[in-house]
This record gives sequence, C-alpha cells and structure tokens, in this order.
Amino acid sequence: MSDTYPPSNLAAIDAAHHLHPFSDMKKLNAEGTRIIERGEGVHIFDSNGKKYLDGFAGLWCVNIGYGRREIADAVARQMNELAYYNTFFGTTSPPTTLLAQKVTSKAGPRFNHVFFTGSGSEANDTWLRMARVYWAAVGRPEKKTVIARRNGYHGSTVAGASLGGMKYMHEQGDLPIPGIVHIGQPYWYGEGGDLSPAEFGLKVARELEEKIDELGEDNVAAFVAEPVQGAAGVIIPPATYWPEIDRICKARNILLVTDEVICGFGRLGEWFGHQHFGVEPDFAPIAKGLSSGYLPIGGLLVSDRIADVLIGEVGDFNHGFTYSGHPVCAAAALENLRIIEEEKLVERVRDDIGPYFAQKWGALAEHDFVGEAQSIGLMGGLQLAADKKTRTRFEKPDAIGALVRNHALANGLVLRATGDRMLASPPLVISHEEVDEMARIARIALDAAWKELRG
Ligand SMILES: Cc1ncc(COP(=O)(O)O)c(C=O)c1O
Repeated sequence: MSDTYPPSNLAAIDAAHHLHPFSDMKKLNAEGTRIIERGEGVHIFDSNGKKYLDGFAGLWCVNIGYGRREIADAVARQMNELAYYNTFFGTTSPPTTLLAQKVTSKAGPRFNHVFFTGSGSEANDTWLRMARVYWAAVGRPEKKTVIARRNGYHGSTVAGASLGGMKYMHEQGDLPIPGIVHIGQPYWYGEGGDLSPAEFGLKVARELEEKIDELGEDNVAAFVAEPVQGAAGVIIPPATYWPEIDRICKARNILLVTDEVICGFGRLGEWFGHQHFGVEPDFAPIAKGLSSGYLPIGGLLVSDRIADVLIGEVGDFNHGFTYSGHPVCAAAALENLRIIEEEKLVERVRDDIGPYFAQKWGALAEHDFVGEAQSIGLMGGLQLAADKKTRTRFEKPDAIGALVRNHALANGLVLRATGDRMLASPPLVISHEEVDEMARIARIALDAAWKELRG
C-alpha cells in the first residue's frame, strides 16, 4: 500500500467519484480499477504489489522509463523558483524559451518555431486554426477543408476527435464538425485484398489526390496523418505510401501535417517520425515523449513557411492555453530531452534495441494465432488471425484482443489491444533482457488465449 496515500478502499472511492476516459464505467466499477502505485525503469507496481513490465510506456509516452530522479529534481527546482507564469502578455519563463530552442533544434531546418499547448489534442486544435489563418493571410481564405484518415487518432477535443477517424468517437457528440473529411488508411493486412503492400500503399495514398479533385484544390487547407497509426493498432504503412503523400501535398499546394504525438522523440529511431519517412511537413503536433509523460505538455512545430506569415502578416493569433509553455512542465521536458540526448536513446532505438525488438517481436509471427507481427523502432503491432494462411479475421475482434491482453496482464506484461491487434510501445530504455521477457510473456498470453479458444 502507498505510504503517501494510505486509504485501503481506494477502488471503492474511485468507483464512487471518478469517471475514467474511454471506459465502460458500469463494467469498470463492477470489476474494480487497478491502482498503479509506483514505477521504476520499465516496470510498474500495483496496490497488491504485483509487478508488470510496461510494454506500452504508460500511454506511448514514458520514453525514458519511470522513476527518473533527475526529472523530479528539475521539477522541484523550477517549482521553488517559479511555479507558474503564462506566455500570453509579452512574457515567458527561462525553461519555456530554452525548451522552444531545444525542441526545434531536433526537428530539422524547416522548423524553427513551436507553439506550446497542454496536450496533443490541443496541438491538433492549434494547427487546424493556424492553417486556416495562414491561408486567409496569403489571400486564399477559401482553402479551409481538411482531409484526414479513417482510423486516424488526433485526440479527444472536438477538433481532435473530428480530425481523428474513429467511428466510435464520431458516434458520440455529433462529430466530425464541418470542414473535415476522411479518406482510407494504409492498413494492408485488413484492407489490401489481393494487392501487394506496395500497390496498396500507392492506391490509398492516391485517395488523397482523388479527394482533392472532388473537393477542389482551392478549397483544401491540409492533410493530416500520423507517421505510423498508433491507436488504430500500430499500422505501419507500406514503403510506397509516404513518398506519394508528400508528392501529392506538394503538387497540390496542400499543407502536410504529421501528427508526431506518438512517433516523436525517438520512438521510430529518429527524433521525429517524418524524418524516418523522409517527408517534409508544414506542421507537426507533439506531446507525450516531449516530457516522457512526467508532466503534461504538448506543442505544435510550425515550419518557416507558416511562421513567416504568422509573424510577418497576421498580427495577433487569437489562440492559446493557460498552460501553454508552463514553466514547470517545460523544465521537466528540458531535462527529459537532456536525458534522451545524453543517453543517446534515439540512436539506441535506431541501431540497437529497435532491431533487437524487431527480431523478437517479429518471431511472434510463428504463432498459429498471429497473422503478422510488424514493428518499427520500438512500436510493435501484432495482427491476430483466425486463419493466417487466408488472412481471415476473427468474428469478434474486440473479444480476441481483450483475451490476449488479459492473459498478458495476468502474467505481468502490459500490452494494449485495439480490436484484433496487439500493440506494444515500451520505454526506449528497455534492455535486451526485458525485450526477451516481453516476447516470452506475449507468447504465453497467445498460447493461453489460443487454448481457451481452440481447446
Ligand atoms: C497521434 C496522436 N495525436 C494526438 C493525441 C492526443 O494527445 P492527448 O491525449 O495528449 O491530447 C494522441 C494521444 O494518444 C495521439 O496518439
């Protein structure tokens, strides 16, 4: 039991008072929530003392692992110095400004500015407005519509959920809002049919061109996509996809937005996902790995093309959040980036632990239950299949994924399930032995689920 928060009836208190995100509360209250009390390295510990290897880095975010004293110290120092100040009225604080310099220095020459937010969702809201402001400022106010993707995820605010292409989110709250339309996703396993992955990658990329034609190029502001779809199930696009998207956006004068909220800060073995795929976005929302989740902070990387107009032509951009550039969150993020640099975590993912993970995770494809086991950097997706030879899916995908996830949990490994795909995204500091342990428990979970289903 936690010494700091001693009540032993926390689950009952939680059931009585706490509404959880993305949760069926009746079911959760009946089952009781798991209370996570402590974290160390890649492990978390619940209130019963059970230890789990966190194969999901919290929610794709704890890149440097849990329990880093350096961050706690940096936060305490900043809190004692200046616990809060805003960035609205001609002010800033030292860590906020230094973070702006540091984060843009990692994003390549096209990005020299960042607009801070409190979260990834807010970062997506920010570019949606900024893109329209930009087009209006350059005399193209009719360029307003945004093209996004089915099964994309860009957050839970009204704009974020509208930009996302999750049907189950659109069904609640009358979404998407007007001015946002969706095209297909590069999900070859599920939707590629008889095409090769390369052919399918080109085909779905060209849906962008078709949609631009349908809407009229003069009406389209931007296209947004995650470099690798995360919440949809770690869907790694075929190699043909991104170059074609980049080409189309440039040819049609459409802004490209790569949502880096998951892929940023080393997860794919580069500082940002767009660098891995060699594309040139105009905006890049960031969050999560920016502070490794130690404190909430997000931002929007703004390319010079946009920033020059915003600074030179627009005047006030009437947008911002109380916690934009929060000094304590910025101090945590600065220290986090220092650790990522000093420990060469990005290079480690690219050259060492990423390839090792690919080998171990990829080997899970041998299992009768697994249709495909893909990874990129330290992001893995495992497609469960009823018949792997014919790429036949299970009738109740959610139940299958949940079954494997629960067996993994029971055996001490946190994986996430999205329908019939298992998702992994461990901290970037994970060791070779811990990757072995992840693969070992994942296999146990697959075996146990297979036995339960097939007897
Ligand atoms: C790609 C992507 N964009 C945006 C978000 C939203 O970020 P937040 O939950 O910080 O608002 C997420 C969250 O998972 C995400 O995965």
